[in-house]
Amino acid sequence: MGAELSKLGNNLVTKFHVLMRISQIYDSKNVALSQFISEFLETINTLIKGSGVLSLKIIKDDFFLNDQRLRYSVEGFTSFKYLSTQWKKRLIGEVVFKTLMNEEMLRHFIYAFINLEESHEENANLLKKQLESHQITSIDVNPLEIVEGEEEAFTLQKEDHREVGKKIFFETIGTIKDVITNIKGNQHADIRKLKRLAQKAIHLVIEDESILLGMTMIKNYDEYTFNHSVNVSIYALAMGKRLGFSKKILTELGITALLHDIGKSKIPREILNKPASLSTEEWEMMRKHPLMGVEIVLNLKQLGEINPRMVVGVFDHHLMNDLSGYPRLFLKKGVSLFGRIIQIADSYDAMTTPRIYKKIPYTPEQALAVMLREKEIHFDPLLLKIFIGLVGIYPLGSLVLLNTHELGIVYKSNHDPKWLDRPIVLLVDRDTKGDATKELIDLTDTDRAGNYKWSIVKTLDPYKYHIDIAKYFL
Ligand SMILES: [Fe+2]
Ligand SMILES: [Fe+2]
Repeated sequence: MGAELSKLGNNLVTKFHVLMRISQIYDSKNVALSQFISEFLETINTLIKGSGVLSLKIIKDDFFLNDQRLRYSVEGFTSFKYLSTQWKKRLIGEVVFKTLMNEEMLRHFIYAFINLEESHEENANLLKKQLESHQITSIDVNPLEIVEGEEEAFTLQKEDHREVGKKIFFETIGTIKDVITNIKGNQHADIRKLKRLAQKAIHLVIEDESILLGMTMIKNYDEYTFNHSVNVSIYALAMGKRLGFSKKILTELGITALLHDIGKSKIPREILNKPASLSTEEWEMMRKHPLMGVEIVLNLKQLGEINPRMVVGVFDHHLMNDLSGYPRLFLKKGVSLFGRIIQIADSYDAMTTPRIYKKIPYTPEQALAVMLREKEIHFDPLLLKIFIGLVGIYPLGSLVLLNTHELGIVYKSNHDPKWLDRPIVLLVDRDTKGDATKELIDLTDTDRAGNYKWSIVKTLDPYKYHIDIAKYFL
């Protein structure tokens, strides 16, 4: 699918989502609706003009635009999820718009749609009849196709952990983005939502840390600041869990990690995204971000009683273990526990993410090697040990060559420390459509003779093999 079409498609899904939400609040005659209807019309009519007819169809968990699968963007995830849930609940599988739409048609369509009873098998026909009663014949509706053996997936009642993880991950990115944008514009920022999301993330990390850890492999180049904050928070929470923190302290740690770079919102974009090295003044400015972060955090009243732990964590996350970092201290005091945890998570994520000034990042393994080399100076050696236990000898997301000549991606570390070198691995392969297949193998598996079925021979650089690791974690 072309980039332009994909963008329009994503736009359509978002507008559809917003319109459904709005129409559940207002009745069909309400003027508040007009603006949303006209925005939706603009998008959908652009698409219809392009192809004559527009079909929006749902198969399994994906939307198809005129039979082409729509890939969702990070911002689009919530809308995709919402829309597919709403369609599936009503057993609607496809809507075909056969002519250009107008406001009248759209109003009738959207209200007839939201008023459908859940799980009613005749819904597609009922919706069509409803539209016909208003002389609308240019919208066709087809029922949801239940794919053989997939009925389970459609109940959606029990969203599995991975779905929950994806939702938390993308929602948190969206929320931190809003918070940063608001702070930049000196507007009210909703921190309570961040807190709620941090609490959800903690539940999940306690249940199964590998899901959110896997999400940190989604390195979104354009949205670095937001992804980075969320990733640092995930690593920090997983470390906090291993350190036996209570849920309350974990929540504080999670929020501190999410906000650790909030001071950067006051630094001009040109400096943050500068492809070349920074001038002395620019570097001076950069080094102020922990202090500016403290100022912002202290001004966020909704954090309730602002805990000194959180403020200090933001303050000293670049201080370094030997205090050689910044801000410079007059009084030499050690780095706080939150600061030391965030420092490790921060460095690791920064090193493994492509940046404008370093397009090819370190592989997970290289990053750990660098950190180990610098450990006494920069990091708390004990915490670094815990971190390595977390990401494994073969860190999550490493591309590995197996003795069977297959390529694999380290997907999950084995819980038993005895098996640090035998993680769960995803075999890298594609189906006939070119989509990544997801076959998991456990490297502790043995054959009848007791020999390991698979072993890691060496790690490889995914950039050399043009493998998009993130794809396998979605
Ligand atoms: Fe920072
Ligand atoms: Fe950072």
